[in-house]
Amino acid sequence: MSSKKWHEYSEDEILQANIEKYQRDDIVKFYEDFEEPRYTYIEYQIILAAVLKALREKLGRPVRAVDMCGGAGKAAFVIKSIQPDSEVSLVDLSDKMLNVARQRAAKLGLEDLNIVEADAFSFLEQDVEYDLFVYSSALHHFKDPVNLLKVSADRMNPKGMIVTIADPTTLIKSRRYRFFQFLATNRDVKRHLIKQYFQRKIKKTPATGEEFDLAEYQTYTGINDHQLCKDLASIDLHPLVHLRYPAGEPYMTKIMPYLGLCWAFSTVLCLNPAEYKNDVQSMKEDIRCQLPFRIHFY
Ligand SMILES: C[S@@+](CC[C@H](N)C(=O)[O-])C[C@H]1O[C@@H](n2cnc3c(N)ncnc32)[C@H](O)[C@@H]1O
Repeated sequence: MSSKKWHEYSEDEILQANIEKYQRDDIVKFYEDFEEPRYTYIEYQIILAAVLKALREKLGRPVRAVDMCGGAGKAAFVIKSIQPDSEVSLVDLSDKMLNVARQRAAKLGLEDLNIVEADAFSFLEQDVEYDLFVYSSALHHFKDPVNLLKVSADRMNPKGMIVTIADPTTLIKSRRYRFFQFLATNRDVKRHLIKQYFQRKIKKTPATGEEFDLAEYQTYTGINDHQLCKDLASIDLHPLVHLRYPAGEPYMTKIMPYLGLCWAFSTVLCLNPAEYKNDVQSMKEDIRCQLPFRIHFY
């Protein structure tokens, strides 16, 4: 086990950890289970519908979208369900995760979903342009999300947008969040967490490598989403809409805001905010009115 410190790992080492993690059958099975209706996370439908509506109006044609690090294709399928004539690519480094998407596409008779096995940076080296990049539960798998989004923006139509969704803010490190998470897990996970807690207390100097999952790199601290937005604005990638919301199973999302646990964030970015200045308010209204739980805009 390596004793490197968290910040000493490189983007390539994190990539390697992701390649290994997303080949594991237990992990892939977890994403297969997202087929269940209770996992149809409503925020994807609502945020992506608002974005697709604005893009379609500006472009006057079907949108060319890419679900980056899309795994089993949660966002890709939502885009196709909202705008069936959109051209959608799904990119992921794990063939096993993509196979789950392939099976779902076959079941739905979606023959035009373009499935690409590649890591994000290699994919972005290609000379292709997209109107919409979606990063769903993906930014936290990178050491430098700003660089990833910058490279994506280089491949984006000047009127295009990037949507990031379902990444953790620094709130996930709060005691409040961890206590809530503990309450909401099943008995086996509770037992595992208690065991882990006591083992850590006993080991006085655990190796850093044992303390976190390198593939989930940013979850070590959570992402400082406000700082991220400032850093992105400084490279001319402007946040049009930025919200924090309580991701999770439907019953939990009702309770979490009352405990101050809007722990996930979503950001809609563009290159030219003047282009969309008249759309921002209606996008926000659509999102606020339709989400069945409390959120915060910034
Ligand atoms: C937490 S899962 C999210 C999957 C999907 N986007 C969703 O929301 O359900 C993270 C995904 O990112 C993929 N991934 C991680 N690092 C990647 C990289 N550098 N390039 C491409 N895919 C990557 C993994 O294979 C995995 O499928």
